Amino acid sequence: METIRIFSPATVANVGCGFDVLGFCLDKVGDEMVVKKTQRKGIFITKIEGFELPYDVYENVAGVSALAMYAVLDVEFGFEIEIYKQIKPGSGIGSSAASAVGSVFGMNYLLGNPFSKIELIKFAMKGEAIASKSEHADNIAPAVLGGFTLVKQSNPLEVIQLPSPDALHAVIVHPQIEIKTADSRAVLPEYITLTDAISQWSNVGSLVHALHTSDYNLMGKSLIDVVIEPHRSKLIPNFNSLRKISLENGALGCSISGSGPSIFSLCKGLENAKKVEANQRAFMANTNIHFETHVSIINKEGIKILS
Ligand code: HSE
Repeated sequence: METIRIFSPATVANVGCGFDVLGFCLDKVGDEMVVKKTQRKGIFITKIEGFELPYDVYENVAGVSALAMYAVLDVEFGFEIEIYKQIKPGSGIGSSAASAVGSVFGMNYLLGNPFSKIELIKFAMKGEAIASKSEHADNIAPAVLGGFTLVKQSNPLEVIQLPSPDALHAVIVHPQIEIKTADSRAVLPEYITLTDAISQWSNVGSLVHALHTSDYNLMGKSLIDVVIEPHRSKLIPNFNSLRKISLENGALGCSISGSGPSIFSLCKGLENAKKVEANQRAFMANTNIHFETHVSIINKEGIKILS
């Protein structure tokens, strides 16, 4: 096989209390990418549609992750990458991770899958690092593995796949303003209080337990972020109103998706998710900010081959 077309999904990182460690994978929202083997040696980005991104492989996250893999190959051919971007860069739903993952997943397939999924995550982290100035894997891991993931540690990388209870649905509100991950990391404090740390690790522990036991009530009580959200929410207009609407309409929890500006809610059942979406849409329609929304099941498959 010489060419592969891939669907590389959007993801929600942090999941409230799990800054840089928890994430989950969205369904249907994502980029398409084509990876081709080519006679000329090297990595080449030959087409980008959807949003303006650099063609220079050293500046494009898909190029940088591809170069990381290519550096350990001993082959007499190269790869061309086409990116059909649907996820707006700076949206908070894993745009850079989708690009970073797509190139290495495609190359691996065309090579006969010599690399494990964990190795793919490590290559993709190199791409993520140029976009956000940090090698976090909380978007990349769920994009590769699907479902909910916990990055146990980054070096050496260890990722745990968590259960995704069937009734869970995510609602995403994406106000069309751009927040660069590097900028929203810059507003975070270097130190936190012991009181906040205790709340946070208690919530992460109970959220993981709730996912294992499909305890939706406990999920709701655990989706609370006392460390990151208070700082980053200031960058997102109407965050408090949108969160209030979500919770008043029955969502289990609501917080910033990744580094924002997207806001995610987790709901039990499609009907509740649609209710939350409708009410958040009605609110946003009265602001002067363009927005889009998505309702999604938790995508348990992750990145996949289209053809
Ligand atoms: N964990 C990352 C952050 C995800 O919140 O900065 C965004 O890429």
